[in-house]
Amino acid sequence: LPCWLDGEMSNIRDAKVSVLDRGFIFGDGIYEVVPAYEGRPFRFDEHMARLERSLAELRIRNPMDRAGWRALVDRLVAAYAQHVGKPVAETNQLVYLQVTRGIAMRDHAMPPDIAPTVFGMVNRLYIYTPEERARGVDCYTADDFRWKKAHIKSTSLVGAVLSRQISADQGGNETIMFRDGWLSEASSSNVWVVKDGVVLGPPKDNLVLEGIRYGVLEEICMRQGIPFELRPVAREEVFEADEILLSSATKEVLPCTRLDGQPVGNGRPGPIYLKLFEGYQHAKK
Ligand code: PDD
Repeated sequence: LPCWLDGEMSNIRDAKVSVLDRGFIFGDGIYEVVPAYEGRPFRFDEHMARLERSLAELRIRNPMDRAGWRALVDRLVAAYAQHVGKPVAETNQLVYLQVTRGIAMRDHAMPPDIAPTVFGMVNRLYIYTPEERARGVDCYTADDFRWKKAHIKSTSLVGAVLSRQISADQGGNETIMFRDGWLSEASSSNVWVVKDGVVLGPPKDNLVLEGIRYGVLEEICMRQGIPFELRPVAREEVFEADEILLSSATKEVLPCTRLDGQPVGNGRPGPIYLKLFEGYQHAKK
């Protein structure tokens, strides 16, 4: 598979970074995951705006402007299509972009004037099958023990790894987390609760990553006349939900049909999910 590291394209197996890279030593960096459908990056500007916010929060200089990032994404997309021997328009891709603070002798304080390390890779975008969507996924709940800057899309993901493993150990697909009894999000997705036809999600604050799908789902709800509300969601509301939905770059919008081993609602994907999924497919065109 092709990748990009500090100005050069190479094979992912050959790309190497210094052991002193602060991404390796401290997880001192940020990333983005951008889906591209038939060669077209989806919500590129929104992903760039979030990348800019994450960099600003960590006080890492943005090594490229949006046109530069766009050129990199297009280049990765083209290299992937070439790699699999298909026209770009016949591929769906997942583009990963990462910026770490750069290389310096180990010291927690931010070294001045080092060059950020820029990395990009690309892979096939997994498309859930109709059967998988009809079944929905199993989630398990856990305490949100991550840090209080979850709004930064940081490569420091050991909290997410430990969280995800709680459901993995039980054979589940995602871990839904609560902080002090309030819903935050899942290990690598946002969580939505449907009750009496209303789509509810946690507020966009420092305790959740504002997924690009916050905007996408709000738009679809607006267009379809589905009430959409951001407010603190209590643990009990999640367990009493008619539907629970996950959203992310890869999941798009996906129904959670079992929570801690119990069916959610009637245990099948609900009507709001079906409307949002259809709206999402339309938004991709
Ligand atoms: N995860 N919350 C967390 C903690 C996430 O890691 C993600 C994305 C989301 C959803 O954000 P978006 O809708 O922009 O994908 C919410 C990515 C896909 C990942 O880490 O692979």
